[in-house]
Order: sequence, then structure tokens, then C-alpha cells
Amino acid sequence: MNNIAPTHFPIDDRLATRWSPYVFSEQPVPRDTLRSVFEAARWSASSFNEQPWRFLVSRKNRDDTHDRIVNCLAEGNQVWAKHAPVLLIGIYRHRFAESGKENKAAPHDLGLAAGQMVFEASRHDLFVHMMIGLDPAAARRTFGIPNDAEAYTAMAIGYRDAADNADASLREREAKPCQRLPQCDFVFSNQFGTSAEF
Ligand SMILES: Cc1cc2nc3c(=O)[nH]c(=O)nc-3n(C[C@H](O)[C@H](O)[C@H](O)COP(=O)(O)O)c2cc1C
Repeated sequence: MNNIAPTHFPIDDRLATRWSPYVFSEQPVPRDTLRSVFEAARWSASSFNEQPWRFLVSRKNRDDTHDRIVNCLAEGNQVWAKHAPVLLIGIYRHRFAESGKENKAAPHDLGLAAGQMVFEASRHDLFVHMMIGLDPAAARRTFGIPNDAEAYTAMAIGYRDAADNADASLREREAKPCQRLPQCDFVFSNQFGTSAEF
């Protein structure tokens, strides 16, 4: 299946062809490619350049980290994410390292870094499926995440599996057309809720 977003205005091809698969090929992700994906996170913007993101990453069949991450995921995510060649947990640090003050932008900056990772991944024909269905307490216990940091999201990364031997219900989920709000529902001017004219 080729999910190309029916955009209302032209956008970069790599944004229009990004989507979240439920079926991944078993093909491993080369080490250097994965490094490029994290390098994209490294060069993301962040409030006061705090770089509050941290990642716990696993490559399938390397050691038990992959299974340990799977066990931290919500059951509904485990069924498909366990097949992904790369799994990671996105973590943010709550406070600025120097002042100890709360960093309100930390989850935002983790998300922005994740966005850059998705974009870089697409350059290597990789797809990413992000997950909020993750048990932060289980991740804390499993991986020794300190109290000043929070496991927030997970990501499954891998190549698309074009072969038709995957679970039919997962294929069905993938095939569902993805709806989006029109811009008039989220780009406002004058008053909240008033569609922007510009
Ligand atoms: C922060 C975040 C959390 C998400 N959590 C889950 C999740 O736990 N399980 C899941 O199947 N999909 C999850 N998704 C994927 C979304 O459902 C998906 O991005 C959305 O339906 C749009 O589809 P698309 O990515 O294919 O365009 C998540 C996406 C984001 C950005």
C-alpha cells in the first residue's frame, strides 16, 4: 500500500509519504543509519538548548533490551511493535540541569526531536510508528530511569514489509485512509475558533 497524503497545498514529499505502519519487514537497520536518525535528534532545537531528550534503544535479536522495551508497551502496541527491528523509548528530563527549575518545554522538545528523527528516517526509507501506549512506571523500573526523568513515548522503526504474509487485521488497520482536519479548524486569526484569512 502506498499512503500518500491528499494534501490541500504542496508539502515536501517526505512529509506527504510519511505514515505509521503496523507491519515491519524483518530487515535490520544498519548501525550508521540508526546513528543518522539520532543525529537528527541531536540537532533539534530546544528551549535554552537544554536538549532534554534521552532515548533507550534496542535492536531486535541483539540482546534482551528489545523484549524489555516490548514489555513496557501497552498490550495493543506489543502485538505489532515486537516485530519492528528497532524499538526505542523517548524520555525527557523535567528540569534544567543548571538551575534545577522546571523545564516546561521538555515534552515539547522531545516531540520536536522525535519529529526530526522521523524525517531523517524517511531519507533512509525507514518508517516510524510513535506510541504513547507505554507504561512509564514499568520503563522506570526496567531501565533504572531516574526520578528527574520521565519515559513519555516509544517508537518502532523499520522498513516497510510489502509481502502479504502479515496478520490480516494489521494490514487492515494500515489500509484505513487517514483523515486530517482542514486548516480552517486549526489555523485561527482574530479569535480562537475563527478561521485565519491571510
Ligand atoms: C505522540 C504519539 C503517540 C502515538 N501513540 C500511538 C499508540 O500508542 N499506538 C498506536 O497504534 N499509534 C500511536 N500513534 C500513531 C497515531 O495513531 C498516528 O500517527 C495517527 O493516527 C496518524 O496516522 P499516520 O501517522 O499514519 O499519519 C501515536 C502517534 C503520536 C505522534
